[in-house]
Amino acid sequence: MVNRRRFLSYVPALVTIPVGSLLGPAHPAHAAEVAGLSPIENLMRAHGVLERAMLIYDEFRRRITEGRSIDPNLVTKVTTVIHDYFADYHEKMEEKYIFGPMEKAGKQFASIQDLKMQHGVGWELTERIQNLARANKLTPESIGYFQVYVKMFRHHAAWEDTVVFPAFRSLVSGKELGELGQTFEKEEQRQFGPDGFNSVLAILADVEKRLGIYELSTSTPKL
Ligand SMILES: [Fe+2]
Ligand SMILES: [Fe+2]
Repeated sequence: MVNRRRFLSYVPALVTIPVGSLLGPAHPAHAAEVAGLSPIENLMRAHGVLERAMLIYDEFRRRITEGRSIDPNLVTKVTTVIHDYFADYHEKMEEKYIFGPMEKAGKQFASIQDLKMQHGVGWELTERIQNLARANKLTPESIGYFQVYVKMFRHHAAWEDTVVFPAFRSLVSGKELGELGQTFEKEEQRQFGPDGFNSVLAILADVEKRLGIYELSTSTPKL
């Protein structure tokens, strides 16, 4: 049963409020500070990419379960993004610049061992999903891999966002964080080009459009 009062509070407001009035007057110093992404923002943005890929995995799983066919090329597009952007860039940067210093400082040591283990398991799962797609064998075996991948990485990313990154933030100064942000951006551009993040996101957006799950409204339940 829908709580009507609560439900109505979510109905979009028709009154538009100028964005400037919410942000207050522009402040040049602040604008300079936010010009580049901090490494934490970079990592959390990549978790957003991963979540979009996992929403696609959920859709693949649903379609296979219903006996519907899937173009295997769509699957390999997603596994390539996960392989190249997520495992080969995001996880490597995480291990080198976040986990390494935290292990040395004895911060969240046990968590980091589990997270590194999950990076390895994730790599293996991606290989298996990719191989099955290339062989056009999108079967119950694939369903199982999609399921365990999504379960593990939702937990993994949520743990990093709420436990590991805040603990890392307490270890470094603002200056070190700014420098590290630039290191992340340079590496991202070296591997994926000047508009690296957007080009990676465009691949996933294309798959979402082909599956009919791109529009945000497609996930809003009809109450
Ligand atoms: Fe990770
Ligand atoms: Fe991560």
